[in-house]
Order: sequence, then C-alpha cells, then structure tokens
Amino acid sequence: MIEIAPSILSADFAYLGDAIRSVEPETSWIHVDVMDGHFVPNLTVGAPVVASIRRHTKCYLDCHLMITDPWDYLADFAKAGADSVSFHFEVGRTSELIKMAHDLGMKAGMAVNPDANFDDYSPYIASLDLLLIMSVFPGFAGQSFIPDVLEPLRRARNLITESGLDTVLQIDGGISLETIRASTISGAEVFVAGSAVFGQSNPAQAIRDLKRAASLALEGTK
Ligand code: DX5
Ligand code: ZN
Repeated sequence: MIEIAPSILSADFAYLGDAIRSVEPETSWIHVDVMDGHFVPNLTVGAPVVASIRRHTKCYLDCHLMITDPWDYLADFAKAGADSVSFHFEVGRTSELIKMAHDLGMKAGMAVNPDANFDDYSPYIASLDLLLIMSVFPGFAGQSFIPDVLEPLRRARNLITESGLDTVLQIDGGISLETIRASTISGAEVFVAGSAVFGQSNPAQAIRDLKRAASLALEGTK
C-alpha cells in the first residue's frame, strides 16, 4: 500500500472543509496534528476540530497527538470520531495507551521522535496498528527531512515483515518529491505531507505526483 496522508497543519484553517474536499479524490487519509504547547512548542487543534471535520468526510482521521497527557484526552478523540490516535513513545505509559485506544474502538498508533532508540520502542510494534516514525522534530510544518531516520525505518520494516505483522509504517516530516523515494525504499507505506500538499497551488495534483514518485521508487526495487 502507498498512501499520502495530507496534514491539515499546512491548510488554511478558515477553509478546512474545502481543503479536505480538495484532496478526497486522491487519498482516504487525513492527518490531524494536535499540539499542546507543552510536548512541543506550538499550539494547534483538539478533539472539537476533529468532530467538525468528521461531519464533512468519510476519510480515515489519523490523529497525531503531540501532547504530554494523551490519556486524559483519548475518550474525547474517540467521541469526536477519530479513527486512530498516535501518541508519542516519549510520554510513556505506552501499553496502557494502546489498550485505552483499543477499548475506545480506535486504532492505536505510536509516534517516535527522530532520536528515539529503536531497541527501546521496538517491543511495542507488535501491539500497534500504526508506527509513526518522525523524520523531523515535531512541532512545525516545513522542516527539513532528517535522513538518519531511514535506518530505524528499515529496521521497523524488517521486523514487521519477518514477524508477519500488519502494523502500518508511517513517516512524518519533510516529505517531498525528493525525500519520498528514500522513505519508500526504506519501507514506509503511509507518508504524511503538509507543505508538499496543502502548501501547493493544486493539492490533489501534488498528491498524485507524490504517489507516482513513491510507486516509481518501489518499482525500482523489484
Ligand atoms: C510536525 C507534524 C507534521 C507536519 C508535517 O510536527 O507532525 O505532521 O505537519 O509537515 P511537513 O510535511 O511540511 O514537514
Ligand atoms: Zn504529524
């Protein structure tokens, strides 16, 4: 599977419905970046905005929780209609959060910062629906891709394949026509893209171009 998950962080928040409609023909995922001003030095949106978006789209709402206390908010995101929540490995209580998400009827994702140690977080991969490897330090759109994360990406892909897991492998940060190739070859299958989609004049065309670049990279590995 190759899927682009456009991040609404780079959209015009006053026209979110229009932004989502503009990408719906090309993707079934929408990435929602939730930031609390504590875990990351930026503030964005929370469950009320997810609830509003839910009323306008059937897309898979992939909520990336860059927040210090996700356990206090998972029920709100479930009620708002989130399909998955990805909390950060760095905040701890991972097993508990996975169970909470599942008990609330959502898929469980775990995000890891670019400097996280693979051996520390890899034991959780088998219990996750989604592993989100950050290729920038979280907080802002428009940062440069950190190539060091290609190694843990490859290791995660190998572990998932060798163990026959169905954990989806996602990458987030600095994805562009230039960086999507290496990420694809290293095993990512869902690519979060903010500036490379909503920062472009034609977001649907931008997604088509990204998917094509990823498909060509995959073909080259066959
Ligand atoms: C960064 C967010 C990303 C961000 C991606 O903290 O988690 O999802 O919106 O933006 P780009 O694609 O511009 O790096
Ligand atoms: Zn994100």
